[in-house]
Amino acid sequence: MVDVFEPKVVAFCCHYCAYSAADLAGSMRLEYAPNVRIVKLMCTGRVDIIHLLKAFEDGADAVYVAGCEEGACHFLEGNLRAKQKVAIAKRLLKEMGLEPERLEMFHISASNAPLFAKAANEMTERARKLGPNPLKKEIVKAK
Ligand code: FES
Repeated sequence: MVDVFEPKVVAFCCHYCAYSAADLAGSMRLEYAPNVRIVKLMCTGRVDIIHLLKAFEDGADAVYVAGCEEGACHFLEGNLRAKQKVAIAKRLLKEMGLEPERLEMFHISASNAPLFAKAANEMTERARKLGPNPLKKEIVKAK
């Protein structure tokens, strides 16, 4: 039996914008990759670098943070802080030998369901091209 790789993608979405866009995408019956697992947060400012790295350690092949558009965060600067943390985490991934493209930040307004679907598809495709997260393999081997 051939083992087909299906990427696991984790999306940290803020309640006010990206999560609402995901909800709207469902209502609009937009199709997007079913590989995405959403972690809902009140604001992306709540995301910490350790959450992003832990998602990879726990087996995610790609991770993204999706918050409000710049200047529209309901907690003023949460999305800007998240953007900075994603940039730092990307550098850490590179130092760990993992492709930084596996991690991304998106700004998605509540009404932009097509952009939510596009981001989900883009991150799934990136993971598919890059292949399985090698850290995941190490974890499986160690068990
Ligand atoms: Fe959406 Fe802050 S409330 S990113």
